Amino acid sequence: MSSSSGKSKPLSGTVRAPGDKSISHRAMIFGAMAEGTTEISGLLEGADILSTASVVETLGAKIKKLGEGAYSVKGCGAKGFQSPDVDLDCGNAGTGVRLIMGACAGYEIRARFTGDASLSSRPMNRILDPLREMGVRSDTQKGGRLPAKIESDGALTPITYTPPIASAQVKSAILLAAVNTKGVTTVTEPIPTRDHTENMLRAFGAKVELTKRNGANVIKLEGPAVLQAAKVNVPGDPSSAAFPIVAALITPGSDIVIENVMMNPTRTGLLECLTEMGGHVQADNFRKSGGEIISDIHVKYSKLQAITVPPERAASMIDEYPILAVAASVAQGTTIMDDIGELRVKESDRISATAALLAQNGVKVEELENGLKVTGGPVMGGGTVTTHHDHRIAMSALILGCVAEAPVSIDDASMIATSFPTFFDMMNGLGANLS
Ligand code: S3P
Repeated sequence: MSSSSGKSKPLSGTVRAPGDKSISHRAMIFGAMAEGTTEISGLLEGADILSTASVVETLGAKIKKLGEGAYSVKGCGAKGFQSPDVDLDCGNAGTGVRLIMGACAGYEIRARFTGDASLSSRPMNRILDPLREMGVRSDTQKGGRLPAKIESDGALTPITYTPPIASAQVKSAILLAAVNTKGVTTVTEPIPTRDHTENMLRAFGAKVELTKRNGANVIKLEGPAVLQAAKVNVPGDPSSAAFPIVAALITPGSDIVIENVMMNPTRTGLLECLTEMGGHVQADNFRKSGGEIISDIHVKYSKLQAITVPPERAASMIDEYPILAVAASVAQGTTIMDDIGELRVKESDRISATAALLAQNGVKVEELENGLKVTGGPVMGGGTVTTHHDHRIAMSALILGCVAEAPVSIDDASMIATSFPTFFDMMNGLGANLS
């Protein structure tokens, strides 16, 4: 399904951010591991989460839909995950496959994981290497790609591990394996990443200890930990809210409010950048929901200035670079985003996909070895963007279309439903011109 986006009238209105993808995956996985029935509200009903739900069902959890975004998950508890007799198809979801592999590793299990073309091109050894150190056996395709088999006797050895890259998925896979591993597992993160796994482990009754050593986070989990079912209220996703936020900032005359946005400081790097660029992004009505701080964000059209994004901010905005590059396309000056080589192994190579999307629509952009330089100016549009099965590339291109002289088209919009199934309705409801 192709799609295009024409010049937009001013955006206005109040919308609610969809449920957070990271927390939704975790709610399903933790619920599946726990003893008892977990109740989830505000779940993101995106294709990625539905893949995770179906995989944990195959492993033995019982899931019921109770209403919109409302689910119950009867966990496997002491019985543990069961070896499946079919492949575990994780679809497009990197978080799903990596966290479920970690969770499986702690049980006596044999399983084979598959995914779509995008997921099958992504590296899995970043989690399989530490899991192998703990005692898991694993076979993958060349370069640690899917399909991958894992086999565990459910009697792993705890490890002390410092991931070579800043990755919440790596940290989480190890901690989930540690839940059913006797002894203390330690993960040291020189650059802290999103802490949803640690927070949810505590909410499910595990003891997770966090200390600081020379600026690094040292996280310890003593296993085995018996997870107990909990109530999870999923807050709104700042990585999805990023699209209407940037759309309103760059479309002249816009004035919108996005409610229910999670403000966990490990996720707010984009808001810091947009504020530094001179954007009116005012968060207020701070409150707590499901253990996270949420707020409503008031966004008004603003004239933006280029910035150099500090590399140490990358972990807190790792999924937001494509949409930041769209904001940079109309900012005065040259925005520099460097030291973000990790973007090359996301749902697509997001450095080259973002550079291509901008260049095809007349934006001045330079691809660096590990980053991008974007110079703002008028956006010609008229290009057809190749999305490479990447939802964030697709949505970024369509937001660029809001300010382009000629419509911006994309080759495929179907994968937007992995993270933001209501994207078209929400954007058009605000006044955008997406078809
Ligand atoms: C996620 C972690 C990040 C992020 C992904 C979600 C998570 O990946 O890009 O969209 O939920 O833990 P990395 O851990 O690979 O940086």
